[in-house]
Amino acid sequence: MVTHTARVFSGVQPTGNLHLGNYLGAIKNFVALQETHQCLYCVVDLHAITVFQDPAELRNNTREVAAAFIAAGVDPSQHIIFNQAQVPEHAELAWVLNCVARMGWLNRMTQFKEKAGKDREKASVGLYVYPNLMAADILLYRATHVPVGDDQKQHLELARDIAQKFNNDFDRPDFFPQPEPLIQGPATRVMSLRDGAKKMSKSDPSDLSRITMLDQPDDIARKIRKAKTDPDALPDSVAALEDRPEAANLIGIYAALGAKPLNVVVEQFAGAQFSKLKEELADLAIATIGPIGAEMRKLMDDPASVDVALGDGAARARAIAADVMDEVREAVGFLQAP
Ligand code: TYM
Repeated sequence: MVTHTARVFSGVQPTGNLHLGNYLGAIKNFVALQETHQCLYCVVDLHAITVFQDPAELRNNTREVAAAFIAAGVDPSQHIIFNQAQVPEHAELAWVLNCVARMGWLNRMTQFKEKAGKDREKASVGLYVYPNLMAADILLYRATHVPVGDDQKQHLELARDIAQKFNNDFDRPDFFPQPEPLIQGPATRVMSLRDGAKKMSKSDPSDLSRITMLDQPDDIARKIRKAKTDPDALPDSVAALEDRPEAANLIGIYAALGAKPLNVVVEQFAGAQFSKLKEELADLAIATIGPIGAEMRKLMDDPASVDVALGDGAARARAIAADVMDEVREAVGFLQAP
């Protein structure tokens, strides 16, 4: 059994409205992993176009996500940040994996069903095979660990199945590692501020449903003040949060932003009114997210510097990807120039 070198890969779509869920579920964890792992963080523009994107906005949103990585503390000189389209091997491996994955597997993907909605006939073909591209992203670098929010769990399970089937089909037991999802912290699923039963998302029509990474302090405070609550005082145990979705969400966000265990935060606010939690949460969110947003704005004012960082990262990513792709072509039986 070959042990693969530990390597972290994750991706974020450049579809605008980067929000607190993306930060707490993913980007904050990207930063911590740099201490212990070699990391690649990708702005997944190929994924974004599974739903039509205005080209100018796509360029801007790609820089926005890259700026968020850097502003949050990812170091592009020690690790790799890049946009997917600059490494064509992603699309090439995705094609091979399209031929490995089974229709039945993709038919089970709940995110496709949610995103395609009722009129599935009108969804792009890309949206359907999107999880295969995601598997390609990870396997192209033989990544062993993938930090993501809870909503990506099913896609990660599929990536593991695809890796295993490739290894079996081509009789190379250790060709691809089984990537481990890292779904960590007290906010792996941040919910909408308007509805504790709905995920915070980039596409929710209500701006009040999410705190974005570019919100100004006033907006952050206003959105938290207007967040949905229930009529009771805050509970005194973690178990009692179970049927209190709004309280669970705000307390989970507070714990994640303050890097405190959930039970400590529950104790801190036990018996208090929502207004007290909201006031302290607004201060904490402004103190933690505010400076990241300010730094993102600075970086985006100098788009050329962001483009240089992405180009440099892409060249380094491609050096790894090209070697793995050569091995894939050989394994599959594609003739290559001698
Ligand atoms: P995307 O762009 O939708 O989201 C980026 C990251 O943010 C997490 N996330 C959340 N976490 C907690 N609460 C929320 N409300 C919330 N909303 C989003 C997501 O779980 C994700 O980690 N398919 C991926 C992008 C991708 C990828 C990859 C990820 C493409 N290739 C390879 C890992 C590895 C996506 O659409 O994420």
